[in-house]
Amino acid sequence: MKKEVRKAVIAGNWKMNKTPSQAKALIEEMKPLVANADCDVVLCVPFIDIPAAVQAAEGSNIKIGAENVHFKASGAYTGEVSADMLKEAGVEYVVIGHSERRTYFGETDQTVNLRSLAALNAGLKAIICVGETLEQRELGYTETLLKFQTKMALTNVTKEQLKNVIIAYEPVWAIGTGVTATADQADEGNGFVRAAIAEAYGADVAETVTVQYGGSMNAGNADELLAKVNVDGGLIGGASLKAEDFSKIVAAASK
Ligand code: 13P
Repeated sequence: MKKEVRKAVIAGNWKMNKTPSQAKALIEEMKPLVANADCDVVLCVPFIDIPAAVQAAEGSNIKIGAENVHFKASGAYTGEVSADMLKEAGVEYVVIGHSERRTYFGETDQTVNLRSLAALNAGLKAIICVGETLEQRELGYTETLLKFQTKMALTNVTKEQLKNVIIAYEPVWAIGTGVTATADQADEGNGFVRAAIAEAYGADVAETVTVQYGGSMNAGNADELLAKVNVDGGLIGGASLKAEDFSKIVAAASK
């Protein structure tokens, strides 16, 4: 982390877990544990949990995020949710382009870009996910791919809007597998993302952008990962479903 120039952000991504009542209970449990955080604390929850989560988090330092957003403002898009709907519900952040959406739901670099623009134009903060598969890593494409995904996602995003962008480097092979990238691999991947931002917006701007690491980050490895200069926080899956584990990661980012 380099807290003097960019924000440290720990965000949970609950994925398809927790009902509204379970969401309320978990946030109530987390609130006192993260109250003294010296980093931003975000929980990205299923759409249906948003009202309960916003209500439970009220008056605390926990911000609520969504896990996706549609790129159109309104219309005949059955099953989709717009940025304005999220905004009005009290959402501040939204995860875009998670590898699970890319793998299972046909998300492309182009739709990631459109969703990012919709979120940013509505005043939401976008947590944009990028990451290589194991096969791509083994073929030596990690740098090329991370730079390509980052630049594609940010097409037509202005320098001003970039202030509301977080990029999460999530190597696909490290998600939900218990296999974490080493701290050096995380730092290198995040560095490739930052280099891509530098190529598009200049090095000074790139220095200010929060780049998270995600993929089996937990209470045991958070210290080592967050000690790296390019790792400005984490996007946490499994460990964000347990108040104690999540709060330990928040504590690691608060040092
Ligand atoms: P895990 O922390 O469960 O590996 O998930 C990471 C992730 O996908 C966060 O978006």
